[in-house]
Amino acid sequence: MPTETVYGLAGNAMDASALARIFNAKERPTFDPLIIHVSLGSGNLAGLEKLKLVRKSLLSSRAQELADRLLGAFWPGPFTLVLPKDDAVPDLATSGLPTVAIRMPRHPVAQALIERAGFPLAAPSANRFGRISPTSAPDVLAELGDRIEWILDGGPCEVGLESTVLSLSQDAALTLLRPGGTPVAEIERVASAEVRSPRAGAPLQGPGMLASHYAPEKRLKLLPDAILNLAPGKLSEFLPALSKDGKIGLLLFEGAPEDTIRQLTADKGLSCDPRRIEARSLSPKGNLEEAARNLFAALRQLDSTPSIEYILAEPCPVRTGLGHAISDRLLRASQKGNP
Ligand code: TXA
Ligand code: MG
Repeated sequence: MPTETVYGLAGNAMDASALARIFNAKERPTFDPLIIHVSLGSGNLAGLEKLKLVRKSLLSSRAQELADRLLGAFWPGPFTLVLPKDDAVPDLATSGLPTVAIRMPRHPVAQALIERAGFPLAAPSANRFGRISPTSAPDVLAELGDRIEWILDGGPCEVGLESTVLSLSQDAALTLLRPGGTPVAEIERVASAEVRSPRAGAPLQGPGMLASHYAPEKRLKLLPDAILNLAPGKLSEFLPALSKDGKIGLLLFEGAPEDTIRQLTADKGLSCDPRRIEARSLSPKGNLEEAARNLFAALRQLDSTPSIEYILAEPCPVRTGLGHAISDRLLRASQKGNP
């Protein structure tokens, strides 16, 4: 199913055999819990308790009040909250954890599907485990086409990165488990409280959040700065030898690819034939939302171009909001082989 973040591989969240088919199709290890998608008139704990997803009474009254405030503010949208689970939720959905991750998507097709189904939908991103999340129906076809019966085509995803995953403890402490489409600063503003987050710059360590997630098949190297800011000597450290007709895939954050390649080869004296560089720009004007929307498709494109032998990616110059999520995904994509 389409959602505003990425496409999801959906099944009945309350049916263990449907869940088993999701894990199978994705080749996903069962220690990596799923997000359950709901569609409610208004986002609050009472609605989730009615669906037999959440046990409200396991939260302090302060935590209950905070949960309702967050759900009221960020649902429907790219925001997932981890809450104490009801026994009716199969253990497979939560990898045996006492908590469950829940999200109300705002994509109208996802909402209509959940309402017609009449049950909540468990949906991980519709990619094979550890790979790049699909942001269009053709990308789902490329990932899982041989394993699934239907793809609901809802067009390209508007956000392009997964939801922000936040856990709420019994005593109302908030912890960031995955940066995503909802900025942490917004969450802190609504909560009037601090969101704890593990070491800045390091991949987060939620269950199933391996360092090497969201990885292309090719090796991806994350540059320490925009490519034109790197001294030629520094840049050459990132340029392993190419085979005879091999190319470098260059993922630029902003600017026009042709201009950047011209400056690299002319002004910077890069001793590399410009035809050996294939560059994509996430957002020519440097717009963060556009960059997020294009990130996975651009990575996928460079990854699937046969002549490209490795990918060089510029870091995201912004480290907050969507920039936090983009930086997290690029870091993980660069850590293939070091889970
Ligand atoms: O935007 C999204 O969130 C997309 C769309 C389809 O909704 N879904 C998605 O699901 O990204 P997935 O399965 O690729 O990532 C879910 C992550 C898990 O890897 C895990 O880290 C976290 O959510 N998660 C799920 N249940 C959890 C729990 N009970 N406690 C902590 N983390 C949990
Ligand atoms: Mg995923």
